[in-house]
Amino acid sequence: MEEREIKFTLRVFKTASELTAEDAALIENAKAAIDNAYAPYSNFKVAAAILLQNGKVVTGTNQENASYPAGICAEGTALSTASSLYPNIAIKKMAITVKRSKIPVDRPLAPCGICRQRILEYETRFNSSIEIIMMGETGEVYTVKTIKDLLPLNFSKFDL
Ligand code: THU
Repeated sequence: MEEREIKFTLRVFKTASELTAEDAALIENAKAAIDNAYAPYSNFKVAAAILLQNGKVVTGTNQENASYPAGICAEGTALSTASSLYPNIAIKKMAITVKRSKIPVDRPLAPCGICRQRILEYETRFNSSIEIIMMGETGEVYTVKTIKDLLPLNFSKFDL
């Protein structure tokens, strides 16, 4: 038996003011979209802003449903919108943020497992890494250079 250690690099910024101008602007795009979320069941609003390789920004928010599993995450909404509007343009970055009605979120939100898989699809589709920028309402910001860092031993089209 052999043990293999899988490592990834998480970049931690004390506040959004330490980010590059491009990353800070993308977080601001996500924050500006947060109240478009439809989250009457969880009261947990999530927004994602995607920067495409052509410079366009597309946002998406979580859209819940009385039949809970029919709800869509913010990342999924943003990816589907980007792919529908610009089907041939690769995604450069995605910023994700959150707003909770009762207690403000003071730490970054990492995408759920299904959304990690969804983001991976667009990395492999365009053979281009997607940087992920994660921030709560306040506090630290995390970034990773590729969704593969959040989804080790992933399953993709290369396995089919
Ligand atoms: N949610 C997202 O939109 N993205 C995530 O990565 C995690 C969870 C949404 C789904 C649901 O509407 C609410 O947050 C609570 O789970």
